[in-house]
Amino acid sequence: MQNKQWILSSFPKGDIQDGDLVLQENELSELKDNEILIRNIYLSLDPANRGWMSGQASYVDAMQIGDVMRGGTIGIIEDSKNEKFKKGEIVNCMGGWQEYLISDGKGVRVIPQNTGFPLDSFMSVLGMTGMTAYFGLLDITDPKEGETLVVSAAAGAVGSIVCQIGKIKGCKVVGIAGSDEKCEWLTKNLKLDGAINHKTENVRKRLKELCPDGIDIYFENVGGPITEAVLTRMNIKGRISLCGLISGYNAESLVPGPAWGNLLIKRIKLQGFIIFDYYKRMMESFMDLSQWIKEGKIQYKNDIVPGLENASTSIKKLFSGENKGKLIIQVSEDPTS
Ligand SMILES: NC(=O)c1ccc[n+]([C@@H]2O[C@H](COP(=O)([O-])OP(=O)(O)OC[C@H]3O[C@@H](n4cnc5c(N)ncnc54)[C@H](OP(=O)(O)O)[C@@H]3O)[C@@H](O)[C@H]2O)c1
Repeated sequence: MQNKQWILSSFPKGDIQDGDLVLQENELSELKDNEILIRNIYLSLDPANRGWMSGQASYVDAMQIGDVMRGGTIGIIEDSKNEKFKKGEIVNCMGGWQEYLISDGKGVRVIPQNTGFPLDSFMSVLGMTGMTAYFGLLDITDPKEGETLVVSAAAGAVGSIVCQIGKIKGCKVVGIAGSDEKCEWLTKNLKLDGAINHKTENVRKRLKELCPDGIDIYFENVGGPITEAVLTRMNIKGRISLCGLISGYNAESLVPGPAWGNLLIKRIKLQGFIIFDYYKRMMESFMDLSQWIKEGKIQYKNDIVPGLENASTSIKKLFSGENKGKLIIQVSEDPTS
């Protein structure tokens, strides 16, 4: 059996270039005792993928040249020689940028079926993305009714869920996004109190207008000049959830940092987090988020691109801002749809 795989062929310098990843067809080995064969259905494309390609270890081991590109997947078990998994079960794991995966079952989680939610929602709002928004906001910043919350990359996969949870908790929510269309979606559809187009507006000036009482909570997704502008308006004892810093992921040298002195002077608590630490609490976020979706309090968008062969060009959308919601590759047919 043949398996199409994206292989890391060079560590990108700056933006990901064609050729940093190459699509190869390799022979799948025979299934051994204790192993399962998974056919990938959905592949998650994430900003973090860029860091994993850098050759530097971080919260995960560094990828090596020649490795299958690392990535989160949802797939179906097509064959099992492992008594813990049955053929036909739908599972979530780090299945990589490939059609098939042979696994010993480590890190493989079964996704419940017949929940009434489409399978791809487990790759976004009911999966890692929703958990990141849920715990990153609620656990790290403990938002209170009436507080002002600012979210960067607000129309994105994580950001849009953070904004809506902020509204559910009674916050005044202002989103920062990269187009008028995204800003309109945030204010008209998600009912945010304000939105700022960071590509055409003066973020610092607009924050002053939209957050006259200052900013209590900042959900940080981007870093760089946007962070600088937000920090100047943070209130005393404000909280920052440091989720991501996408503006620096393609940078070849250190990007100028924000004015960290503000954190010191205003006794701000800033906490970074990695969502992997929260997987044991997955049911908490699932119960709340699924309920909020049913009640119409949470909307989500999935940007599903068909075809594994399109993975390496599609990931660039995350850095240009062209993605419309959670970016997902459809690797093969979804048997549940
Ligand atoms: N800590 C964790 O465990 C964890 C888990 C998941 C994700 N994250 C982080 O969460 C953030 C959002 O990830 P996501 O998956 O939800 O992606 P996303 O927001 O759906 O897509 C990325 C968005 O970032 C914005 N962006 C890209 N380059 C930018 C720049 N230079 N300046 C300002 N904005 C820029 C673009 O939106 P605009 O058009 O609005 O500019 C783009 O659409 C990322 O930083 C990611 O690393 C962290």
